[in-house]
Parts: sequence; C-alpha cells; structure tokens
Amino acid sequence: MRLFIAIEFSPELREEIQRWMRSLADEIPDPEHRLRWVKDEQLHLTLKFLGEVREDQLKPLSQVLRERTRDHMSFSLSAARVGHFGGRVVWLGLETGLDNVASLAKSIEEGCASIGFTLENRRFHPHITLARSKVNPGTIRLANLPLHLRQKSFPPFRVTSISLIQSTLSARGSLYETLERFPLS
Ligand code: 2AM
Repeated sequence: MRLFIAIEFSPELREEIQRWMRSLADEIPDPEHRLRWVKDEQLHLTLKFLGEVREDQLKPLSQVLRERTRDHMSFSLSAARVGHFGGRVVWLGLETGLDNVASLAKSIEEGCASIGFTLENRRFHPHITLARSKVNPGTIRLANLPLHLRQKSFPPFRVTSISLIQSTLSARGSLYETLERFPLS
C-alpha cells in the first residue's frame, strides 16, 4: 500500500481555503485545462511520503509514530501565500508554525529511518498542494495575480494530531483514506 504521513485540517479551514482557491483558479491562466485542482477533502500538509509499505511494516510504523507524536506538543500553524514548484505545482505556504512543522517532520523522518524507511534526501519544504499540472512544466504563471489573492493568509489552526494516510491511484485521481490518527501531547 502507498502511504504518507500528513497534517489534516478542520473542515472549516478546508472550506475557507477552497473558497479562496476558486478565485485563484479564475486568475491563473489555464486555457488548456492542464491544472488539476485538489479536492477540498484532500487538502493536507505532508510531513513524510513513505511510498509503498508492506503489511508487516505497519505495526512498527504505528508504534514509531505513536512515540514521536507523544513527545511533541500540539501547536498552531497558519497558512499563507501562494507559490509554485517548477511551474508544475501550485501550493500554499505557511506563515506561522514553520519551526514546529519542521521539527515534527524531522522527528518523524528519524523515527521512520530507525525502522528501515529511506531517508528523504530533498530539503523539507512544508506546503499545501493546491493544484498540479502533469504536462508542460512551466505553464503556471503567478506573476499577475492580484496581491490580495497572492498574499492571502488564513486564520491559525491548532494541530493536535497527525495522520497516516493511504493513497490509492485511480483513473479519477488519487483516493485518500486515513488509516490512523496519532495525537500530539
Ligand atoms: P505534493 O502535494 O507536493 O505532490 C501524497 O501524494 C502526498 O505525498 C502529497 O502531498 C505529495 O506531495 C507527497 N509526496 C512527497 N513525495 C512524493 C513522491 N515522491 N511521490 C508522490 N507523492 C509525494
């Protein structure tokens, strides 16, 4: 099974992001409809992408995540400002909570490595993916976005748990299912 570990948001925050995303989508030129916008219920912030995980790895993984979250205090984050990766992924960044997210991700990364998962070699860049373009990297243009859309910031959100999520690829895009939640202390 294909798994990742993420912070999930409240329905209220997701709805607010979704509303702003609609205005954003109207302002980002996409004449050939290459951008796939993330569905409201799938908005999340990934802490660690695990990829394929075997059944027998689930128990140790669960154990490690329980330990790592027990040692981490709950915290607030606020999402703000839009950016893109290589003209291919549109994302929403963080205005506050960055240090906490980074230390939580580091602890999870180390915990996962201790039970045999591969260490991520790319620098961790916390983001909430809003849209992906599978073709033509470089097609996303944000330069002409109105400032109020580009610099939008969202109310603080209290992170009290993290989630282990299964992603199943299908013809209609990925389907996510939360397998387990791990409360922060
Ligand atoms: P993305 O939003 O930047 O695409 C499920 O696919 C989640 O895991 C997404 O948040 C995705 O990030 C993240 N992820 C990180 N590395 C990945 C990889 N190599 N393949 C697929 N998803 C990855």
